[in-house]
Amino acid sequence: AQCQATAQPQPVVQSAGQAAMFIVMSISQHGNACDTVREALGGLPAILRSLNLRLPDAHLSCITGIGADAWPRLFPDLPAPAGLHPFRPLNGAKHQAPATPGDLFFHIRATRTDACFELAMRLRESLGDAVEPVDEVHGFRYMDARSMVGFVDGTENPQGDEAVEATLIGDEDPAYSGGSYVIVQKYLHDMAAWNALPVAEQEKVIGRTKYDDVEMADDVKPSNSHIALNVIEDENGEEMAILRANLPFGNPSRNEYGTFFIGYARNLGTIEQMLTNMFIGRPEGNYDRLLDYSTAVTGSAFFVPAESFLTEQLG
Ligand code: HEM
Repeated sequence: AQCQATAQPQPVVQSAGQAAMFIVMSISQHGNACDTVREALGGLPAILRSLNLRLPDAHLSCITGIGADAWPRLFPDLPAPAGLHPFRPLNGAKHQAPATPGDLFFHIRATRTDACFELAMRLRESLGDAVEPVDEVHGFRYMDARSMVGFVDGTENPQGDEAVEATLIGDEDPAYSGGSYVIVQKYLHDMAAWNALPVAEQEKVIGRTKYDDVEMADDVKPSNSHIALNVIEDENGEEMAILRANLPFGNPSRNEYGTFFIGYARNLGTIEQMLTNMFIGRPEGNYDRLLDYSTAVTGSAFFVPAESFLTEQLG
């Protein structure tokens, strides 16, 4: 059933953006760290309002996610969201998806880097010594929505009502309707090996054509292609979708080329099933060939409460 809730969601349903900052932090153990965090999160809407008034073309937005360990520290009187648990690492025969720490996640998007940066800076000031940095990635829209490996990324994302249906919690967890779950992973690519692969082979790895982004027919698409392993169905044969907002990032002088994977879903299990297919394989051993060129170096999961929940609890 679609989310009927009156709860106002955070701006989960939108495109990847031109520029994004993906920030993961942990909350310090000292006495009043959680009070400071609650106050900072409560002050975030005002900072956003001010920046969006001054830079209306920037379409600046920020999504806040809260990790499983942080939830009882921040909201001791409230039950945890039904599906919230830490990222489950995966140990495939050839490739691993590690779990890395993360209490707070901020997904900042805009049409301009300076707007993202300004928000991140103001947010950081307000968090003071209540947090420690874990990871920060600056993503950019690359050409015509290409991923770092040169293929168009985001094509098969659900749109409109389907995106809402895929990402926002409804009646299954009434206290948290309008919320969402998100998994993030930072991947680094072996670009020398990837670029040495002829385009026709790269297309077999992804399952789509490179230049014009057309899906391969089922009888030619390899079963270990990225697309084949990420199309999953529920017990009724309905396709289970997630909403991705991946962006490339990198540092050419250090030879660092990466993809920041970020997937939103109303159920963490959907993303976890995709990760199992990729890392363990479907069937087991038939793992995602994209992983031969991509190494997951981080992995964490967060709950994204409804905007109205945050306002009520912290505003
Ligand atoms: C599709 C790239 C990681 C789930 C795609 C496409 C590309 C791509 C180029 C095809 C265009 C599109 O429909 O968006 C990458 C890269 C990754 C990565 C470079 C990191 C190295 C992941 C992960 C998941 C995932 C970790 C899931 C946990 C999907 C899904 C689709 C997709 C569900 C659409 C399948 C379909 O309906 O056709 N990805 N991806 N991807 N990817 Fe990924």
